Amino acid sequence: MESFRPVPIDVIQLNEKSVVDLFIKHDERFVPFLGRGGIFTKEQLVELNRFGINKVYIRVTDANAFEEYVHTHSELILTDPTIPPRVKEAAFYVSSIHALRKAMHDPNSERIEEIKNTLKPMFKNIMKNKVLLKDLFSITEHDFNTYTHSINVGIYATALAIHFFEHDASVGMESLEHQCYGYFLHDVGKCMVPLTILRKQGKLSQEEWTVMKRHPQWGYAILMETGHLTDEAAYISMQHHERPDGSGYPFGMSDIHPCARICAIADIFDALISTRSYKSPMKPLDAIEIIRREARSDFDTSLVDTFVRMLGMNNESSGLSRTASG
Ligand SMILES: [Fe+2]
Ligand SMILES: [Fe+2]
Repeated sequence: MESFRPVPIDVIQLNEKSVVDLFIKHDERFVPFLGRGGIFTKEQLVELNRFGINKVYIRVTDANAFEEYVHTHSELILTDPTIPPRVKEAAFYVSSIHALRKAMHDPNSERIEEIKNTLKPMFKNIMKNKVLLKDLFSITEHDFNTYTHSINVGIYATALAIHFFEHDASVGMESLEHQCYGYFLHDVGKCMVPLTILRKQGKLSQEEWTVMKRHPQWGYAILMETGHLTDEAAYISMQHHERPDGSGYPFGMSDIHPCARICAIADIFDALISTRSYKSPMKPLDAIEIIRREARSDFDTSLVDTFVRMLGMNNESSGLSRTASG
């Protein structure tokens, strides 16, 4: 039997062709509403609103195509001041899940549902936190690449933290939530970095690099100002570029908070697997191998192991590890 899943109606663009078949639920049945290629009109939206319908359904097998569609429209949705916050929040949610699906070894695996369920309560709180969302969307207005990166790192790191601390009674729900804010906003300080530097395609000059390296401290200051500086977010924003061998910035410290280590893994992973104008994307498995080779402590190694299990890459990557080590 075919399975369906609900999607918020707000993220479907008016007067554009639908990329998947859309259904509405009626008497526990899924009734076709708009076929793939059909145009979603204002009249249809008004009609749905009139019946109090705020979600439509898509086939589970179409989820990837639908999320990709929402993600490509996110920039429009998030930067348009006339679009209400609830629409932006819906686009943010769909984009986050899409990022996770893209990184998973099997994008249609049931694990994604499991992870989504564990993330759900946290997402609900993010959505309620208007100031936090404002901070997040202010990154969009500055630079969309940084926003996409923030979403990706936010979702990878939060999922990793949930898995890693699963059996650690000292890390409760409240701490995970504070971490989650920190992960999504880890690069908020980049709002202060001029676009000429942020978007530069070649190598940064010495002076430009000095400016870039200040984003952890600027992020810390912004979080403090907006009242989001929980202990976890402070460590994450300030230390996510520090490395255990002291080669990182801004302080070159080696005693790094566990949450900042989690963020660093997610941060490097996203940088490697993302497309940029100056580089093609690396395969997730290859990215994991690089991160594994760079792991400098038992703590980092066990974080990478958890990340690999979470993404459903266990067998393949252990095989690669053996090859790599000889
Ligand atoms: Fe950063
Ligand atoms: Fe980052």
